[in-house]
Amino acid sequence: MTPTIIPHPSIPTSRVTDAEGQFQFFSVKPGAYPVLESGWWWRPPHIHFSIFGRSWMDRFVTQIFFPGEPLNETDLLLNAVPDRDARERLIFQFEGTSMGEVNAMGFRRDFVLRGRRRTPELD
Ligand SMILES: [Fe+2]
Repeated sequence: MTPTIIPHPSIPTSRVTDAEGQFQFFSVKPGAYPVLESGWWWRPPHIHFSIFGRSWMDRFVTQIFFPGEPLNETDLLLNAVPDRDARERLIFQFEGTSMGEVNAMGFRRDFVLRGRRRTPELD
């Protein structure tokens, strides 16, 4: 699989999964940003995902966070998920660093769309 380079995390893009349901991309790791209306709340680094099935009406939306970020502990959206195991399913798994044409940190997240271990939806 050849990853697509996404130059900025706020640029919308779309990917189609391969035959095993996987996709991969390179991007800049996003930073934290303030929710100005709150006066105190900073969103931790995260990436928004919108996963479509066979039609645009079959859509799953969530946000995935990075491990080890202190702001994960105070994020109102992440912590609105009451179950700790479910919150863990919203955090990337660090897969190490790679050196080569592009030096990068690797992260992985499996999206489970149905069942008891499903990934929580976050708008
Ligand atoms: Fe965001």
